[in-house]
Amino acid sequence: MHAVGIVAAAGSGLRLGADQPKALVPLAGRPLVAWAVETLRAGGAASVVVVVPPAERGAFAAVLPADVVLVDGGATRTASVRAGLAAVDAAADAVLVHDAARPLTPPDVVARVLTAVGGGERAVVPVLPVVDTTVAVDGTGAVTDALPREQLRRVQTPQGFDRATLDDAYRRLPAGAELTDDAAVVHTAGVPVQTVAGDERAAKITVAHDLAQAEAQVAAKDRR
Ligand code: CTP
Ligand code: MG
Repeated sequence: MHAVGIVAAAGSGLRLGADQPKALVPLAGRPLVAWAVETLRAGGAASVVVVVPPAERGAFAAVLPADVVLVDGGATRTASVRAGLAAVDAAADAVLVHDAARPLTPPDVVARVLTAVGGGERAVVPVLPVVDTTVAVDGTGAVTDALPREQLRRVQTPQGFDRATLDDAYRRLPAGAELTDDAAVVHTAGVPVQTVAGDERAAKITVAHDLAQAEAQVAAKDRR
């Protein structure tokens, strides 16, 4: 199998509130995007495409290995991944789509996803169980339903796909449609999505507290 990784790194990181795009924010001295690229490679991606904010191409090129392909992103994650997909080399038969915002994802997670794709699954997502009681609420905040948490999962990245399946699903998706992940794009096209075990360390950095936790995680590992 020839797997290519796409790192979605074109967001601005409004909720983190740094003075630069979130993917360039350092964790233990290295930009988040550099961690994400390394994880994909260590887990089995033959090459990596990074989707960046168009105005920041130079800053990304300065912190990434020279053989990484840089592509201009769009206004939404969906538009950014679509742009990345167009730059995946013709020889690839599998694609891994990963968030730059998940820097500490263990390479094992990448490998599990790839193994499932290699085994014939067309779409694979790493997931974690929901441990809290989970409810639905109405517009006033009143609880309308308790959800059966044993049926619920939290979805992470990297998500793995048969290349033709992902290309086809993005082609069918109306321009301007905005979905929060790529499994949703293939699911919308009617493709079954399989799950494998995710990892708490693959948590997404969204707010400042998440970055502080990631720093603590790296420091704890360095002490061992
Ligand atoms: N992303 C992207 N293109 C966009 C928006 C997001 O490539 N137009 C990427 C981000 O860079 C990130 C991933 O998608 O790695 C997950 O998105 P999120 O955590 O929401 O990051 P941001 O959109 O940058 O953050 P925020 O929503 O707080 O502004
Ligand atoms: Mg966002």
